[in-house]
Amino acid sequence: MINDLWYKNAVIYCLSVATYMDANGDGVGDFAGLMRRLDYLSGLGVTAIWLMPFQASPCRDDGYDVSNYYEVDARYGTLGDFVEFTHAAKQRGIRVIIDLVANHTSDQHPWFMEARRNPKSMYRDWYVWSKKKPRGSNKGMAFPGVQKSTWSYDSVARAWYFHRFYDFQPDLNTSNPHVQAEILKIMGFWIQLGVSGFRMDAVPFVIATKGPQVSTPVEQYDMLRLMREFLQWRQGDAIILAEANVLPDMDMEYFGGAGDRMHMMFNFQVNQNLFYALAASDARPLQKALKATKPRPKTAQWGMFLRNHDELDLGRLTKQQRKTVFKAFGPEPAMQLYDRGIRRRLAPMLENDRRRIELAYSLMFTLPGTAVLRYGDELGMGDNLALPERQCARTPMQWSTEPNAGFTKSKKPISPVISVGPCGYEHVNAAQQRRDPNSMLNWTERIIRMRKEVPEVGWGDFEILTTRDVSVLAIRYDWRNNSVLFVHNLASTPREVSLSVGIAGESSRLLVNLLSEDHSQAKAGGKHRFMLEAYGYRWFRVGGLDYLLKRSDIETESADRVTPRRQRSRRGPVAR
Ligand code: NOJ
Repeated sequence: MINDLWYKNAVIYCLSVATYMDANGDGVGDFAGLMRRLDYLSGLGVTAIWLMPFQASPCRDDGYDVSNYYEVDARYGTLGDFVEFTHAAKQRGIRVIIDLVANHTSDQHPWFMEARRNPKSMYRDWYVWSKKKPRGSNKGMAFPGVQKSTWSYDSVARAWYFHRFYDFQPDLNTSNPHVQAEILKIMGFWIQLGVSGFRMDAVPFVIATKGPQVSTPVEQYDMLRLMREFLQWRQGDAIILAEANVLPDMDMEYFGGAGDRMHMMFNFQVNQNLFYALAASDARPLQKALKATKPRPKTAQWGMFLRNHDELDLGRLTKQQRKTVFKAFGPEPAMQLYDRGIRRRLAPMLENDRRRIELAYSLMFTLPGTAVLRYGDELGMGDNLALPERQCARTPMQWSTEPNAGFTKSKKPISPVISVGPCGYEHVNAAQQRRDPNSMLNWTERIIRMRKEVPEVGWGDFEILTTRDVSVLAIRYDWRNNSVLFVHNLASTPREVSLSVGIAGESSRLLVNLLSEDHSQAKAGGKHRFMLEAYGYRWFRVGGLDYLLKRSDIETESADRVTPRRQRSRRGPVAR
């Protein structure tokens, strides 16, 4: 296994340039502002920044409607500013990945304008057309309740065009080899300007067959390999992080059996079940999701997240489970969206209860994968439900108690800063939290530091341990002769935990607590017994702190896992 796959143990921080920091006082965040905040990000400990779309755009879907892939939107700066930014990030050891919106363009993109105007233009076939209104045009909308159709009539083209998302986002005909070549060209362009990869938007739709005759789209997985090959040739350590909310039995298609397609995918399956686990204090469906998403190529990685810039999509849960999550975290209709999700930020969903927020974060950092944080969550920022759709959770970063939270000197920020309630910027801001050792910000910084010291999470194999308590999740990772163990109490009441580490040998008798002084010594029978406070969590290293010396340079068949009792009596303890 190659040692330097940086994305296996990265800490990714997602932000939108528009709402992060405004340097020129026009009310809109910009690259010059973001650059000045790189020291903050470096101090927090993030190792990669994921930039949401910043290319030229009418911005009717926050930049996911691109009108020029090769330009920075003028409100955020210039290509020159962008390169200064990637350079400054690199100097601090921070990588940059950017959104790649390849499924559709803006309807204002010159390609679409030309395509609709001129049926003979080469661009006509870059989009998906139909002479007649196709059957089923009222099905398959990405934003049900807001978007009425997936086909719209264009009076200039005198034809219907396909759009999986809003009507101002015409789908590209991604089966057209010229379109595919253009997507590679876009990737090559930004790679040249210093990025380390892409968060690819809406991947299942990018690779789906499209057209009026297509009633059941088919995924063209070869396209993923094509992009991977191109990228790896242009820059060996660049990655693609796929947004693909698919069922677990499709995962290997996206990763590629030989690890030859997507490097990373967001784990939507775990995300939804994690919120269910938090809502119901029941770890079982989460365990099931973890097991279902376990198979992946050695070089592939999951992106673990709590909230992102979209709604918390609960569409993969059962109706009953969804009801439970809605009741706990988004009971009012105004908090819900698209008949399937919750549009709030994390902190208000968890009633600004620090114990629950830490629990959620501790889970995110210790579940198998690489953590992806959302800007402002490190402070416990809130939402503004008066804003439409997903805008409620995309308000400007809260830097200080200065007017408009120090985000801008303008009186008119691009989106209103949250100024009322417990999450208003006078209570929740980076400047105050920096000075308070017990703040959420400083807790996040410390937990990131510790996460970097447990690379077993990113690299290792995991096993879920039996605790006989549905509210307690215990998960152990083994990697290169070392093991770590994480235990979480999802319940609002304290729990006594009794568990066996599942590894033979002396080392499993001692669990060193990585976050506080209460270590655990095994009892006479070899089991560990300890109390977990309500919503409590423990990060343990199995054995002493000389683990660094024990770490082998190559994969080993190290952890002498104890096999279940039945098997043990027949075969004795076996190594993996
Ligand atoms: C997924 C993005 O996360 C979302 O914000 C956007 O609206 C759609 N794709 C369309 O690009």
